[in-house]
Amino acid sequence: MAAVFITRTVPGDAAERLRDRGHTVTVWHGEAPPPADALAAALAANDAALTMVADRISAAMLEAASRMRIVANMAVGYDNIDPAAAASVGVWVSNTPGVLAETTADFAWALLMAAARNIVASDRDTRAGGWKTWSPTAFLGPDVHGATLGIVGLGEIGQAMARRAAGFGMRVLSTSRSRKPDVEASLGCEHASLDDLLRASDFVSLHTPLTAETRRLIGSRELSLMKRSAILVNTSRGPVADQEALVEALRSGTIAGAALDVTDPEPLPVDHALFSFANVIITPHIASASFATRSRMASMAAGNILAVLEGREPPNAVNRPAAPRGLT
Ligand code: GLV
Repeated sequence: MAAVFITRTVPGDAAERLRDRGHTVTVWHGEAPPPADALAAALAANDAALTMVADRISAAMLEAASRMRIVANMAVGYDNIDPAAAASVGVWVSNTPGVLAETTADFAWALLMAAARNIVASDRDTRAGGWKTWSPTAFLGPDVHGATLGIVGLGEIGQAMARRAAGFGMRVLSTSRSRKPDVEASLGCEHASLDDLLRASDFVSLHTPLTAETRRLIGSRELSLMKRSAILVNTSRGPVADQEALVEALRSGTIAGAALDVTDPEPLPVDHALFSFANVIITPHIASASFATRSRMASMAAGNILAVLEGREPPNAVNRPAAPRGLT
């Protein structure tokens, strides 16, 4: 039987599924991720790991962890691990596709609506005693219905955003690494270059994975192309937008606001300049945080671990070791 490390308490039946098959499960009970030395030690002492986006797993850690056979990330993104480096030392890496797109799009939509219609700012104001009268001019914002939404990255989550936009009668522009004419047509999306999308959109929502190509995809040049009335929504990864450029754009009024579920770094220090803007909403990377979805993600990660421990390929592998490690 194998030893499995779970880097945080997770919802649902993941730990139980692993224990039911006779595996020993150790859970890191801290609220914060295990520090690098504790993580390295746990990887070295276990055969499999169920990890979170906040766990940075280096190639050196995996190389030193000679028993480790799979790192099953409880996320669709896996920029916290280098899958190629893991494969080169015989370690599988898996993710959790297909189960979180709708929940994440729900949240991105909530951020878009909240930023447009001043929901967070007005709530803050009423709590502080600012509600003195009904005002014809307080908290005016742009309409969402009928506006133009620019979707950067037409993967599962971007597509789920396009479906929501249809209900609001929006024009939807999309840009993605590879054209998907059938998907675009069925969702009523107009393909556009990134620059054209940025120029024409009232709301720009980011849905790309973090890769070398998408790091700082939205920099000062891109922000300067956006409408001064536009709002940027980011539920992808913080570094997809150049945060210093974003601060500058907000300071100078180049764009009207931003709603960010992801930042760089995470957590964002409370004295960060982004927190000084009333027209910015910042949430702590919770777009997939519904009871059902987080439980499904954890269970799916456990399923990937069980597959490897039972001598099968993980169904959601994102790499392919030429010589997968066996149990020692
Ligand atoms: C969350 O950020 C994920 O990648 O699932």
